[in-house]
Amino acid sequence: MKAVDTAAAYLRAHLPFTPDLALVLGSGLGGLADQIEQPVVIPYREVPGFPLSTAPGHAGQFVAGVLGGKKVLCMQGRFHYYEGHDMSAIALPVRVFKALGCRALILTNAAGGVNWDFSVGDFMLITDHINFMGANPLRGQNDESIGPRFCDMTHVYTPELQQVALQVAAAQGLTLQQGVYLGYMGPSFETPAEIRAFRTLGADAVGMSTVPEAIAASHCGLPVLGLSLITNMAAGMAGKRLSGDEVIEIANQRGPVFQGLVRGIVEAL
Ligand code: HPA
Repeated sequence: MKAVDTAAAYLRAHLPFTPDLALVLGSGLGGLADQIEQPVVIPYREVPGFPLSTAPGHAGQFVAGVLGGKKVLCMQGRFHYYEGHDMSAIALPVRVFKALGCRALILTNAAGGVNWDFSVGDFMLITDHINFMGANPLRGQNDESIGPRFCDMTHVYTPELQQVALQVAAAQGLTLQQGVYLGYMGPSFETPAEIRAFRTLGADAVGMSTVPEAIAASHCGLPVLGLSLITNMAAGMAGKRLSGDEVIEIANQRGPVFQGLVRGIVEAL
């Protein structure tokens, strides 16, 4: 059996229901999983073919249950390219979500603000991305049963889902910035020169995840919503050094409000 079918079969056998929506909770945002009612926890290490997640602030497990009245399957922690995982490993859970019948995928992340109009603690709706990771999860032999060899990327972030996110944010009285997320391989942060270059290229935020997952979702026809929490202004912008601890600290501080937004979107979908 193919890796995606094996993993999907395992999850189907261990989930109490067919999930409606899939969520990937980024750095420091895993707290949303604690709001899930009747949670069923499945560590990644128990799922056949799944790698182990090692990034700080990432729990490394699926949490399934009811959130905002919807049956959700959450990744509490994700796989990053900088951890050494192959792109195919990062794409695997996304393909599994599709195989399980999820209607949509919500990708969340912590990101550095590149747009001078942004502030630490802002939320950003991802309208498009720039793949600067130097790799693509669709490289290699294509499985036509999953998606086409040459995958259209015109609307990676589903316009209808973006509209829902904007409406929910407005209803909650939250400012939702909008912009282009640039995916950087990491794990080193960017240099100030790179950030200036990325701004010139059209980036509004920079981070080390999301892009491979969004490409895999586009390929298999899974609608995607992307949301960033701006945990810091990118390198060279705030006159101080960057640290992973600061990212987690701000994510924890703003986490509850961000989680409220995501929960509201789940309710509305
Ligand atoms: N750069 C890359 N990834 C990040 C950043 C950043 O400044 N902040 C949070 N994730």
